[in-house]
Amino acid sequence: MKEQNQTIATYYQFQSGIYDLTRWSFLFGRKRIVRELPFQREALITILEVGCGTGYNLAQLARHYPNARLQGMDLSADMLQIAKRNTRRFGNRVELIQAPYGQSPLSYRPDVILFSYALTMINPQWKDLLDRAGEDLADGGIIAVADFHDSRHDWFRNHMGNHHVRIDGHLLPILSDRFKPLLAEVKPAYFGVWDYLVFVGARG
Ligand SMILES: C[S@@+](CC[C@H](N)C(=O)[O-])C[C@H]1O[C@@H](n2cnc3c(N)ncnc32)[C@H](O)[C@@H]1O
Repeated sequence: MKEQNQTIATYYQFQSGIYDLTRWSFLFGRKRIVRELPFQREALITILEVGCGTGYNLAQLARHYPNARLQGMDLSADMLQIAKRNTRRFGNRVELIQAPYGQSPLSYRPDVILFSYALTMINPQWKDLLDRAGEDLADGGIIAVADFHDSRHDWFRNHMGNHHVRIDGHLLPILSDRFKPLLAEVKPAYFGVWDYLVFVGARG
């Protein structure tokens, strides 16, 4: 686990510098997942994003939910440095924490836990993190996931494997089993080179 976290942190030492310039072109579903959360705009909610990276979603969420309090957790100091810049305008509504999720208890029970393009990188512990999220969420809390789903092309799966991403349809069955699906959609990217998923589920 420690070794895996170190591998990811090292990977993002370089990738953090080009992340915001490049990821808009293939991390699909991120705007959608923010819009699909089942809360009113004025809701006083707490949202945790696990693997918040450069804070792209945190900024979207802070704008969409002006009364929400947000926490972003990530193990990469390099990504969080950029997240700090990207969320500065929201002041203390957005808190950033450098830590791998699940190793220390949370001091609150979030209304929403978001995993955006993080679970497919957390191997092999992704299932444990989902179990943990189920325990951490407030009663009636919501899990939201945008991520790669699957690809029928070996070359693409291998290419993404080189970037520490596992793509083989493994997330959706477990998400649907552990949480009550409110939205579970799979959509093609680039005419079917891969599919991505957008999932919103309620704590059972
Ligand atoms: C592909 S990026 C996604 C960033 C952001 N969520 C987005 O949608 O742009 C994956 C992020 O997850 C972080 N990460 C990977 N494993 C993690 C873990 N166990 N705990 C917290 N963050 C983790 C990485 O450091 C990286 O910043």
